[in-house]
Amino acid sequence: MSETIGQDQEIDLEEQKVLDAIAAELPAVSRDVHQLIPVLQEIQRTHGYVPPGSIKMVADHFGITPAKVFGVATFYNQFRFNPPGRHPIKVCLGTACHVKGGEIILENFARRLGIEEGETTKDREYSLERVACVGCCALAPVVVVGEKIESYVTPSKVEGVITEIEIQNEMAERAKAQDEQQSDSE
Ligand code: FES
Repeated sequence: MSETIGQDQEIDLEEQKVLDAIAAELPAVSRDVHQLIPVLQEIQRTHGYVPPGSIKMVADHFGITPAKVFGVATFYNQFRFNPPGRHPIKVCLGTACHVKGGEIILENFARRLGIEEGETTKDREYSLERVACVGCCALAPVVVVGEKIESYVTPSKVEGVITEIEIQNEMAERAKAQDEQQSDSE
């Protein structure tokens, strides 16, 4: 099972870079506590998520407790605390998709990736989340992989979705290696 990134995980190098950037950005922001939500939104917009390690920094900036910041951030469903994967997988669990087995699809992705919904694989390749209706109920059950809509997804299609991403990654790596070889020989 893959290791996952969660609140109690060690801070890795990528996350440390994000925290350093936030530490550099915060001093320029007003300390008016009414700015708390806009600041969290800006962190998420810039970095793709609100790293748990930034909660205390934000709290110190506004002179409030980390619990208060965390409470506000979790009250509004818009904030995520895990970095998005390079291939975010969003399983639709709106009514039509739910009726057609969306939960089972979600469970299958979770099992295949070794993460729970709301988590990101340690290598940051994949993140998994449930979403509300994405607007194409006629194709239910639906999964959104990156920008691509996968329709009529069945549990047996889950492996195929991951394999397709792996093949694309491998092809991209080969193309990159070829480019490097070419530029070395020039
Ligand atoms: S319920 Fe899934 S697309 Fe509408």
